[in-house]
Amino acid sequence: MNIFIKDIQKTYGNLKVLNRINIEFKDKDFSTLLGPSGCGKTTLLRIIAGLETPDAGEIYFGDKCVFSKEKKINVASNKRKLGMVFQDFALWPHMTVFENIAFPLKAKGKKENIKEKVFSALKTVRLENLYARYPSELSGGQQQRVAFARAIIDNPEVILFDEPLSALDANLRDEMRFELTTLVKDIGITVIYVTHDQIEAMSMSNKVIVMNKGNILQSDSPEVIYKNPINTFVAQFVGKSNVLKDGIIRPENISLTKLENSTEYEGSVESVSYMGSFYELSVKISSLGLWKIYSNERKAAGEKLKLYIRNSDIHILGGIANV
Ligand SMILES: Nc1ncnc2c1ncn2[C@@H]1O[C@H](COP(=O)(O)OP(=O)(O)OP(=O)(O)O)[C@@H](O)[C@H]1O
Ligand SMILES: [Mg+2]
Repeated sequence: MNIFIKDIQKTYGNLKVLNRINIEFKDKDFSTLLGPSGCGKTTLLRIIAGLETPDAGEIYFGDKCVFSKEKKINVASNKRKLGMVFQDFALWPHMTVFENIAFPLKAKGKKENIKEKVFSALKTVRLENLYARYPSELSGGQQQRVAFARAIIDNPEVILFDEPLSALDANLRDEMRFELTTLVKDIGITVIYVTHDQIEAMSMSNKVIVMNKGNILQSDSPEVIYKNPINTFVAQFVGKSNVLKDGIIRPENISLTKLENSTEYEGSVESVSYMGSFYELSVKISSLGLWKIYSNERKAAGEKLKLYIRNSDIHILGGIANV
């Protein structure tokens, strides 16, 4: 199901949190709202969910208008056919895994085949054996899967995630990233995912929507966002970048050995961080400030380096954003 957001605005007191947001989430796409803390991601997600009322604009789920300020339409959240997974999982501690997952069905009075439906959802998330446990008896990753099973139990057409992995430790987060992507692909569902983590956004989504201060800056595939960022904010938010006069260059495109058709720069090493498979260097280029570059060998602070950049690797900023 496609979701259209038209001219959505939201203000809290004097604070403009969303500034005329226009965006389309395509059927079965994994779309991610990416932006810094406070930029309005959760507010937009809650507005789509019907948990927050915008000041102006319209929202369509497919052909159906679920919100219109002008037409005075506001379809209740539980009638919007969506599942939600939040950062803290929000599982009920006094209910077992089975009861937690069954809850949305019971709340809507859908009493038929509850057992079959719950076990089918448990099978999807591979937790059939843990149905009688309480949330406190589960690991973080298992709790996350229960939250996911609960979100899909009533066959939603869209699933909304708000930073669902941020409470997990780094290793588990990597694992769950992969698992969540596989699960939603298997079910074949439209996903709107919120995060401030660029790796999460780039690795999971087929569409990334970069927000800042209540505005959408750019909306495109992860590859286009990375290779053709519209401005320095987007460039720096989706990866490391070095600013040149006419654009930006990613660290991985700066070479310490001479390249054909390249421009040479001189710099001196300010600091060195060992990253496991490579070294990240901060190199001072006299007229251009500090650059981040990658090296296979350790370099010493103060060491003089020659750097080579191909013009074709410079990303010119200010292309047309495909919002
Ligand atoms: N109910 C509310 N009342 C007043 N201000 C609010 C309310 N909810 C959110 N805000 C403000 O709106 C702005 C956007 O908040 P929002 O929660 O949408 O940000 P976010 O992008 O999700 O940030 P984070 O990454 O920290 O979760 C913030 O400045 C926040 O303080
Ligand atoms: Mg938030």
